[in-house]
Amino acid sequence: VFMTALFSPLSLRELELPNRIAVSPMCQYSCEPDGLPTEWHRVHLGSRAVGGAGIVMTEATAVEPRGRITPHDLGIWSDDHAAALEPITEFIRQQGSVPGIQLAHAGHKASKTRPWDGNVPLSPEDGGWEVLSPSPEAYPPFGGDRPAIEKATTADIDGVIEAYRTAAERSLEAGFEIAEVHAAHGYLLHEFLSPVTNRREDAYGGSFENRTRLIREVTDAVRDVWPEDKPVFVRISGTDWLPEQESWDIEQSVRLAAELAALGVDLIDVSSGGIHPDQDIPAGPNFQVPLAEAVRDGADVAVGAVGGITEPEQADALVHNGRADLVLVGREFLRDPYFGLHAAGRLEEEPSARWPIQYR
Ligand code: FNR
Repeated sequence: VFMTALFSPLSLRELELPNRIAVSPMCQYSCEPDGLPTEWHRVHLGSRAVGGAGIVMTEATAVEPRGRITPHDLGIWSDDHAAALEPITEFIRQQGSVPGIQLAHAGHKASKTRPWDGNVPLSPEDGGWEVLSPSPEAYPPFGGDRPAIEKATTADIDGVIEAYRTAAERSLEAGFEIAEVHAAHGYLLHEFLSPVTNRREDAYGGSFENRTRLIREVTDAVRDVWPEDKPVFVRISGTDWLPEQESWDIEQSVRLAAELAALGVDLIDVSSGGIHPDQDIPAGPNFQVPLAEAVRDGADVAVGAVGGITEPEQADALVHNGRADLVLVGREFLRDPYFGLHAAGRLEEEPSARWPIQYR
């Protein structure tokens, strides 16, 4: 039987992904203000597992309450959160898909209202909180005025690392098979990576080695508790798209990816941007693929490509041509929860066996 590249399995450690299609992490802002999943999450994530995704990745899931973008974000900072997520991961697995969780801390971009409420800073009086960042004084005008903790202390940093470690432990209890560390889009870990937002003069700022220290320590903590037979992913911004100033770029990304791979990271999920409003993003089909490809070639690690991928043939070509190992699909999966099944319909001769028995 002819097998397309997109529907060929991918083995990462002992985990076999049924195909190369992943639901990209997408915030739903649909929790009551407690970080617990609701019926929305169950149906939203469950539908995409029914719809043929090889991986269903949760939205950015906060490792501690102040790491939420909005009070309505998903969280994994208590045993109650793990218990509430467990039926969701079980359903995803029953559909033959793999549940993944994106572990996140929003850093300085936390404490805002939901996009449909204007995405504006939320003060502590209005239900927000003090935000954490490497160097609040350096932070560009992305989020407007919000009270920031003066500067992350060593105790704050140790707390973040521990929060990631316990979040990973709880994710495992909840039944997730992939842990993805979110280090992209201008959130906390990216804020440490980029000289745009990191002006520290201690061991966590300045040189490449110092700016990458936190992500390496977080990755170490997650890898330490995540089982040997299960993969860890890291999502990075491949570039800040700020060529005119000292910033994070693809050369640093390749170097970081190689170091993360050496720490036991199995796949680098390559996105971009999010650190500064002056970013100049050349959006369009495959717009971030060259970044993923550079990481794959330069760091010799498996990569996920994301951004502007909407067509089955397009996704298949990325894998077939060795540009990416995994394809993450965001907005197209919002428009079409059955993107995976529809892709099989277009690419395969006899795709019907992929549909759930109830629908055949
Ligand atoms: C996102 N994106 C995103 N990325 C991420 O790493 N964590 C997240 O929680 C979110 N949340 C989110 C919500 C919504 C509604 C959208 C549309 C996007 C980015 C997303 O994962 C993806 O990288 C981009 O949407 C680009 O891929 P597409 O949409 O062009 O396939």
